[in-house]
Amino acid sequence: MSLLRLLAAFVLAVIALPAAAQTIQQAPSGSQIVASADSPGRTIHVDVTLNAEGRVGYMVSREGKPVIAESRLGFLFTDAPEMLRNFAADGQSTRSFDETWEEPWGEYRTIRNHYNELTVSFDEKNWMKRRMTVVFRLFDDGIGFRYELPSAPNFTHANIADELTEFNVAEPGTAWWDEALEWNREEYLYRRTPVEEIGTAQTPLTIRTASGLHLSIHEAALVDYSGMDLRRVQGRMLKANLMPSSTGPKVSRDLPLATPWRVIMIAPDAPALYKSAQIILNLNEPNRLGDVSWVKPMKYVGIWWAMHLDQATWNSGPKHGATTANAKRMIDFAARNGFGGVLIEGWNKGWDGDWFGNGWDFSFTDPYPDFDIAEVSRYARSKGVEIIGHHETAGNIANYEKQLGPALDLYQKLGIHAVKTGYVADAGGIQALGADGKIHFEWHQGQVMVNHHLKVVTEAAKRHITVDPHEPVKDTGLRRTYPNWVAREGERGMEYNAWGEPKNPPEHESNLIFTRMLSGPFDFTPGVLSLKGKNNTQILSTLAKQLAIYIVIYSPIQMAADLPENYEANPKAFQFIKDVAVDWDDSRVLAGEVGDYAVIVRKQRGSANWFLGAVGDEQERRFDVALDFLQPGMRYRAEIYRDGDDADYRTNPRSMVIEQRVVTSRDRMAMRIAPGGGAAVRFVALGR
Ligand code: NOJ
Ligand code: CA
Repeated sequence: MSLLRLLAAFVLAVIALPAAAQTIQQAPSGSQIVASADSPGRTIHVDVTLNAEGRVGYMVSREGKPVIAESRLGFLFTDAPEMLRNFAADGQSTRSFDETWEEPWGEYRTIRNHYNELTVSFDEKNWMKRRMTVVFRLFDDGIGFRYELPSAPNFTHANIADELTEFNVAEPGTAWWDEALEWNREEYLYRRTPVEEIGTAQTPLTIRTASGLHLSIHEAALVDYSGMDLRRVQGRMLKANLMPSSTGPKVSRDLPLATPWRVIMIAPDAPALYKSAQIILNLNEPNRLGDVSWVKPMKYVGIWWAMHLDQATWNSGPKHGATTANAKRMIDFAARNGFGGVLIEGWNKGWDGDWFGNGWDFSFTDPYPDFDIAEVSRYARSKGVEIIGHHETAGNIANYEKQLGPALDLYQKLGIHAVKTGYVADAGGIQALGADGKIHFEWHQGQVMVNHHLKVVTEAAKRHITVDPHEPVKDTGLRRTYPNWVAREGERGMEYNAWGEPKNPPEHESNLIFTRMLSGPFDFTPGVLSLKGKNNTQILSTLAKQLAIYIVIYSPIQMAADLPENYEANPKAFQFIKDVAVDWDDSRVLAGEVGDYAVIVRKQRGSANWFLGAVGDEQERRFDVALDFLQPGMRYRAEIYRDGDDADYRTNPRSMVIEQRVVTSRDRMAMRIAPGGGAAVRFVALGR
């Protein structure tokens, strides 16, 4: 029996009524509670309300304490009256669901999807008589809810001007949030402010409340809709703010429609919040691609960092990076050191001149004359190395979509099974072909781009090609449905340490782990052992921290980003990068605080080995963790890469101690993380 079948045998999909829920929060005066539900373990409770004006609302509590105070639901349309008032409740139902499913690749081998569902329908009492259904899924560590709008004779198409969904945070707290709608898209540093000082924020947005509860608001299954930001309206009231479109409504859809899930992860502490991100995957549809054994997690190197250092160019000329000779050298380096892939950027015509502000010149089938793509592919295959293709669009999806079929066919023909895509353009600078035959400027997270990305992913899947977009649409868990969507960018990655102003600060990764990383894998491109950016500028990290990033920032594809000569100059640290796994049976955050530090352990998939990664911030941090995650009775060789006692990212970033120790599950491990530092450990199972 295959593991999958074995699991299926244990799936308990119970269609039953959960026990009647008890109201916890009082409805504000004028509102009445029309439906309630509890999560399976009765941790999370939701009340659905209706006020005297017929406005629909909801409230959420955890263990009897309010988390989200009454918050309204509804829609604005560009061509129809709003859906906000005059509702009457008309029917509700509940069901329970419990399954355990297997990730083809991921942070966990299996994920339990266990929730109680409450569906409540409302009808308008006025002349429109439209119907709005809200479906809540209650997990023990959060909720998801979405709207369903059925079709009616007077309502067959929805032109949504905005969604009126509110998140009225009950308690004061500290928020970690990222500016939305600004020119640099998703690539801002996370800010830390009181909830009352949030402006317009991207999701995930994370909050630690005064009582210590950890919340993160995000969305799941963003399909044929516009991405959601959050705008603070007043006090601690956040409201959905859909990304605009240049052609009118923010969302245009035939009915019936179901919106993406609005998700509130709710956990007692930062480590538990990390795990609650499983909700995002659980709210997505199961794998639609069937056998995806062709999707292979891997580490890769590439013709890449040299361009960011300005030592080579994407465009043609004397410094052109993607030459046949350079590619072969990189393939040799990959083969010699056990890397699965080589990324080659700048191989195709179109980079000359102002590629940033144009995109029309890009050809996705014509290589530069000094790059023999057939020969490079043949050479890679002979060395057992995969080529990772590259399609930079400069945000011109009109030009890209025109060439998409032939571009992917070429890769398929050459045996190239992965493509990194890119959408370098300022926010609002996506060029898309409209239904009117004209070019319209769109946003990276708008409905047009949401649909574009899925088109690329499904077209690539037909050809057994995996996709890794940069300047992407945010991750909402669609990798469950389309497992060839392996990673993406969507925040400041390593490249900012080459040329960013400022560079990524020491707290960057400790912020990301509990914010951006709740959405999904990040092609961060770690491992710059030189600790130097462009013009020899210093990266704000110790050496050990560069290794730790491989564990703490999850992606099934991890780059060894630095130049080969810098790896050759640092063979001991490089050994960890060669050894580290990229696919996991289990992942656990052992300790951590948002923006301060995190200690994460992961079990290598299909192996008894474990890895530990720890990162801090600008202060010295210490941790002392039990190794009880290790298999009892097994002895492990702990290969430890830690900051030297005198390490400090400002004064002594290269001070690193490598030591080995035999440990068991009964031991503990205590360590100091230097300012700007980190630690990486490989636990190799030795036997009993
Ligand atoms: C930005 C991407 O993040 C980076 O990885 C890539 O090298 C450049 N765009 C060029 O496509
Ligand atoms: Ca980028």
